[in-house]
Amino acid sequence: MDASIENDRAAWLEGSSADGSVKCSVVPPERKNPWRLILLGAPGVGKGTQAELLTERLGACHLSTGDVFRAAGKRRDCDQSPAMKAAMQYMRRGELVPDSTVWEMVRERSGCILHCGGFILDGFPRTLAQAESLKALMEKEKISLSAVVNYELPVDEIVRRLSGRRTCENCKSVFHVTERPSKGKGICDRCGGRLYHREDDRPEAITVRLEAYERSTAPLIQFYKNLGLLMPIVAKGSPDEILARTMEKMDKLAAGAA
Ligand code: AP5
Repeated sequence: MDASIENDRAAWLEGSSADGSVKCSVVPPERKNPWRLILLGAPGVGKGTQAELLTERLGACHLSTGDVFRAAGKRRDCDQSPAMKAAMQYMRRGELVPDSTVWEMVRERSGCILHCGGFILDGFPRTLAQAESLKALMEKEKISLSAVVNYELPVDEIVRRLSGRRTCENCKSVFHVTERPSKGKGICDRCGGRLYHREDDRPEAITVRLEAYERSTAPLIQFYKNLGLLMPIVAKGSPDEILARTMEKMDKLAAGAA
């Protein structure tokens, strides 16, 4: 099943998966040993691109906190909570949204994290406080992480990737003007939606995001290393090459666990 094409991820993007009131168009099948992955790495390293490819391979749900904030930002003004409106301001500047807002949003969607088809978390956790909250939730529910994939890339390549990124406003698929262009100019290959240039991909916001990453998110590398979960992957080359590198390590992990 090509989950990324067919699944609208409504439970994650719209929220309230914890009480089951919003359901996805495709519910991934129950798995005996579901993949539960975190994708770490600087902004623009290619986490979203790899999450889409990994979702197709592994069937687990792609859970991106950035996508939730962007989807919320498109709602009518009167449908946005004060915390969400404030979150939009942080995002536009390239700063991290406060931990309390992020955790409240993830907690409302905890049904997606607990789902028996597994998950690929992209953009969460991003601080030690968020990592501790996730750890506590998973321990309480007696589920464990499979691995934390850390994508590594030099800064100049990261800036190049971010500057040329185009995102589908409908299905959130990610393209690049030269490296991963869409077939129709400005139109998404998957759903025909309009492609746009993210507001936080402006040069001044990119600088702020990279600083926030170094200060708040990079310490998670040691945190997950200490837990024996870290899987470093060189993020150079084409998306398919990086996927192959990731799958090679994951296949070894799965073989070891069997
Ligand atoms: P978020 O949406 O999570 O953004 P990010 O982490 O900054 O990551 P990006 O989406 O920018 O990059 P990516 O690594 O996914 O790269 P992509 O695959 O798109 O968060 C946005 C904001 O929301 C944050 O700044 C913050 O304000 C807020 N936020 C979200 N979560 C939060 C949290 N937990 N706590 C606090 N605040 C939070 O690729 C980039 C480009 O490169 C694309 O154009 C792609 O086509 C291209 N590309 C990808 N792979 C390759 C390749 N191998 N070769 C060439 N080009 C490639």
